Amino acid sequence: MRQNETPFLDAVLNYIKKGIIPFHTPGHIQGRGVNRKFLEFWPKALAGDLAEVEHPKSHHDYDAVRKEAEDLLAELYGAKRSFFLCNGTTEGIQALCLAFLKENSTVLLPRNAHRSIVGGLILTGAKPRWVYPRVDQSWGMATVVDTETWLEESRGVDAAFHLYPNYFGMCQDLENQVLDNVPNLVDEAHGPHFQFSDRLPPCALEYNITAAVQSTHKILSSLTQSSWMHVKIETAVLKIEKALSIIESTSPNFLLWASLDAARALEAENPKRFDDLIERVNNLKAEIKQIEGLKIFELDGHEEIKAIDPLKLIISATDLGLNGFELKDELRLRGIMPELAETGWVLFIITPSHQKQELDSLKQALEDIARGMNKVKSSNHKFTDYPRLKARLTPKEAFFSAGESKDLTKTNGLIATEMVVPYPPGIPLVMPGEEITKEVIELIQYYQSLGWFIRGLEDKTAKKIRVL
Ligand SMILES: Cc1ncc(COP(=O)(O)O)c(C=O)c1O
Repeated sequence: MRQNETPFLDAVLNYIKKGIIPFHTPGHIQGRGVNRKFLEFWPKALAGDLAEVEHPKSHHDYDAVRKEAEDLLAELYGAKRSFFLCNGTTEGIQALCLAFLKENSTVLLPRNAHRSIVGGLILTGAKPRWVYPRVDQSWGMATVVDTETWLEESRGVDAAFHLYPNYFGMCQDLENQVLDNVPNLVDEAHGPHFQFSDRLPPCALEYNITAAVQSTHKILSSLTQSSWMHVKIETAVLKIEKALSIIESTSPNFLLWASLDAARALEAENPKRFDDLIERVNNLKAEIKQIEGLKIFELDGHEEIKAIDPLKLIISATDLGLNGFELKDELRLRGIMPELAETGWVLFIITPSHQKQELDSLKQALEDIARGMNKVKSSNHKFTDYPRLKARLTPKEAFFSAGESKDLTKTNGLIATEMVVPYPPGIPLVMPGEEITKEVIELIQYYQSLGWFIRGLEDKTAKKIRVL
């Protein structure tokens, strides 16, 4: 390629040109649902890409303006203190790790935790104690950890990291999983909207937690990479502020912060947005259920799931002969892009930025797919349980070991120094420091055969892993 070419910019422009209907993050859905003031500001975004703003009292002090905006946010969520983040929920999670974990502290966390927490473990040298989530065999999906197992594993831990909700909007019994006398940190990446309707699961802040981080960009209306964190316990505020100050850029992106400020105002001004949307989504689900060959994931038979986000729509078309990847391809052909495909199903994220016509288009695309299929049940649906691997080193010890790159097929019994992460959803199959087994090698090969992206490895083709 020549230097005057711009492959990334072109790819973005192309996506826009195709007019695909997104059922994926970010939640503002290509600008359809942002705060009006922010929309009017946007043509001036380059002029607003600043490193200084003036505060009426303290003049050149952007921190004072930021604090005013964060105080409004804290008030809206009922937090002791809230923080704007401009490196996503990842920044908040890693700051929480730095604030509350240290070398060899033991932290209790679910095995389906996001890879950003593994980053926090590597930064701090803490030891994970994994709790395996329940698994729905027929959907081939990890749900949430059950309270009994979580509490059984909790003895002697120095902190707990809760995943609430999981990627698919499922919530465990957080009220009873909060541990006494240790920091309770919450990855609430997928729940920034819970605060805004009684028909959504309770916000993590309603429980006895220390702090929660939310990916505002995923469901609400701020720009990608902007998130926020809420602190519930006064004594934790300074610790978290200190940790943030060492990982936050010294040149924070004001456009991201402005979008967070606007996203907060939009929710405060429109308290019924989510109630109205839930009504529309329930109608859509009822219509989809009428389509022969399609199934929607529902709560029945899952006592470990305390509540579920109705705005995450999970659809299986295996009865039509389509695995999740094939269903996604069929949808793409009809101009619809879901958030994620897994072996047996597809996940759609619906936000208040989706209009009626977009929900109608989704329904029509699904009807069209169902009409055209041969209705031979897919045999391609294989379950993917989390392999239970033995930890031989902490993630930090493994990550900083030199290791050598070996063919995946020759790594049985060796210790991984990197993580193996099918993406999305970004949940590692192998953590640094774990012993690789034949079972996990087969699972990685299976994912690869489906064309799934595997990230986290030095070898981008995921044919080799760095091991000890
Ligand atoms: C459960 C969970 N936690 C944390 C993150 C990281 O969030 P962000 O992309 O805002 O850094 C993600 C991103 O997908 C996630 O799914």
